[in-house]
Amino acid sequence: MGIVFHESSREFHLYNHKVSYIIKIMENGQLGQLYFGKRIHDRESFGHLLELAARPMAALQQDFGFSLEHVRQEYPSYGTTDFRLPALEILQDNGSRLTNFTYESYRIFGGKPVLCGLPATYMEDEKEGDTLEITLRDKLLNIKLILLYSIFEGEGAVARSARFENPSGKAVWITRAMSMSVDLPDCDYDWIQFSGAWSRERHVKVRRLEQGIQAVSSTRGHSSHNHNPFIVLKRPTADEFQGEVLGFSLVYSGNFLAQAEVDTYNVTRVMLGINPFSFTWKLESGQSFQTPEAVMVYSDQGLNGMSQTLHRLYRTRLARGVWRDKVRPVLLNNWEATYFDFNEEKLVDIAKAAKEDGVELFVLDDGWFGARSSDSSGLGDWYANTERLPGGIKGLSEKIEALGMKFGLWVELEMVNPDSDLYRAHPDWALQTPGRTSSQGRNQLVLDFSRKEVVDCIYDMIAGILSESKVSYIKWDMNRSITECYSAAFPPDRQGEIFHRYILGVYSLYERLIQNFPEILFESCASGGARFDAGMLFYAPQCWTSDDSDAAERIKIQYGTSFGYPVVSMGAHVSAVPNHQLFRFTPLETRGNVAYFGAFGYELDLQKLSEDERKIVRDQIAFMKQYREVIQFGTFYRLQSPFENNIAAWMSVSEDKKTAVVGYYKILNDVNCEFRRMKLKGLLPDVRYLVDDKKEWFYGDELMHAGLVTSDPSSGQAYPGNHCTDFWSKIYVLKAQ
Ligand code: GLA
Repeated sequence: MGIVFHESSREFHLYNHKVSYIIKIMENGQLGQLYFGKRIHDRESFGHLLELAARPMAALQQDFGFSLEHVRQEYPSYGTTDFRLPALEILQDNGSRLTNFTYESYRIFGGKPVLCGLPATYMEDEKEGDTLEITLRDKLLNIKLILLYSIFEGEGAVARSARFENPSGKAVWITRAMSMSVDLPDCDYDWIQFSGAWSRERHVKVRRLEQGIQAVSSTRGHSSHNHNPFIVLKRPTADEFQGEVLGFSLVYSGNFLAQAEVDTYNVTRVMLGINPFSFTWKLESGQSFQTPEAVMVYSDQGLNGMSQTLHRLYRTRLARGVWRDKVRPVLLNNWEATYFDFNEEKLVDIAKAAKEDGVELFVLDDGWFGARSSDSSGLGDWYANTERLPGGIKGLSEKIEALGMKFGLWVELEMVNPDSDLYRAHPDWALQTPGRTSSQGRNQLVLDFSRKEVVDCIYDMIAGILSESKVSYIKWDMNRSITECYSAAFPPDRQGEIFHRYILGVYSLYERLIQNFPEILFESCASGGARFDAGMLFYAPQCWTSDDSDAAERIKIQYGTSFGYPVVSMGAHVSAVPNHQLFRFTPLETRGNVAYFGAFGYELDLQKLSEDERKIVRDQIAFMKQYREVIQFGTFYRLQSPFENNIAAWMSVSEDKKTAVVGYYKILNDVNCEFRRMKLKGLLPDVRYLVDDKKEWFYGDELMHAGLVTSDPSSGQAYPGNHCTDFWSKIYVLKAQ
């Protein structure tokens, strides 16, 4: 494994046993893209893979006789014979936007550098992989462009980013700076995006890639419910288990663009980065600009192979801190149990019942601070409401700990209600445009996190509470998109920076909190899953997947989320029926069977359940404690999609492959249907597995190739006391004998 540079051909080959990534310094000094895919043997030159022949009508690069229009490139610019959308654009003081970045030098070193102020994957030492740093320079502008490529030992993944440095003596304006761009030699792919809205995040949308531009993006200031900064290209013949798949994931939480442009020669240009729409960054002399990181994954083991690479990488080399490798506590959150209607006594009663059933962490959600009796006031006033909580957070957290549980707290630190002490004291601290009205979302405005003094003030308030109280967990919410984005603290020619500066401010606050309170488990949230992205996972190893806690809807949401993100990162709770989002009734067993595949918890008042239901809850919690290591840290396989079938299934297999937990979900009941089997994955073929409820063993090869019989009463397999309903489900536990 490694990165080689061939002097004679001026080619870089990054490879490990899974992937190869090959770049050429072309005759004009720019970078050509030769190959990204399954590992191939190294050779002195792959130059023949570059198309340089002049075509009719082509505008030719002077002195070189070829057109960039037909050349596959690494970080392309517009206006000098390439007419596709570029990776970068720089506005100069004479009004020109042309650039010509040519090769200057390279460095290869073990390990991976940190990206200052930005989330990124990491290597713990220099043996975990290698980094290639290529420096290019636009000689006319005297601006440097440094492209970073890191390849991880043993993983089919390359992490990329770009940095601009300006030693030129005068300012330029970067109007486009993607994290990655890669030109693929054909367009024989299905494009997959993960889209939705509040309460139906990350639904899987597939379509054939076509000539022209296909893209998803966010302009909302957060990655959004609507589209996710992660896309997949798969060969049309590839499926969950076999075939070539490419995944492109952006480690960023703000406005993004993920795009594939297929030209009329069927070359596919994929790019991912900060959304150039309404973005401008003034790069003064002596300053640098670092883009966020993008992770590119290649799998020849289908969609599951691609996802498993991202799961491993993001679980172990993006998430950080003491919680990274720890199973997550079973929690109970009071939001759907009480909404804003609570006092200390009520909370302690809810917590006591939770403790009796085995819950380990009690989380107090919205409503504990300032004058927060509804969502129209109080945000920004991070001190406890002592009418509700006479002993403050300190007193309540001590009471909860005295019950033998940990205590967690909800915050929404980026926001302010106009009806708050903070806003009354600092009306200019909200993002708002001079002379324009400010739109409110959920009665709140967005604090100007591009300003250090704002972030410092919020830090001081919340750090005060965390220092004096016993808080083990924070749910960090963000409940509206950004509008009228403008900062009173920056000059007119820097207003195009504010969206990015905002998210850098969010990252800086997260970083301070996790450095100073390293034992706290953070869960990110944005009206459910509006900021479920790789950027957040660097700070908060888990994220509230969706406000929709209906079990049937959650199967789709968790299934879609699992394409790009690990099971352990998905907050998943059992809630009451009728469900508060859909008013649907689903069996308590099914609500548990879905929520097991995540960071598990409850979102209801257990005191309101019957004794029989409490018994089920106690069994669920005991089950989760027994199997959470396998479920949260095992290898996860999607087996059957809820987007295409009435029956969905997935499974997690332990690292030693000796234990597996299968989740099997039937949405609507059916009658007199076929005799069913589900082919399992990832087992040891020669090992016998005891399947718990069948009280019978089967060889791994039978379970994988003939399948596990999953037929239920609807195919005549009824046995006393067992019948199917709508939203029926089952968990199978397999243990090697
Ligand atoms: C958002 C979150 C919910 C809950 C509420 C509280 O909607 O997604 O889980 O915390 O805010 O106001």
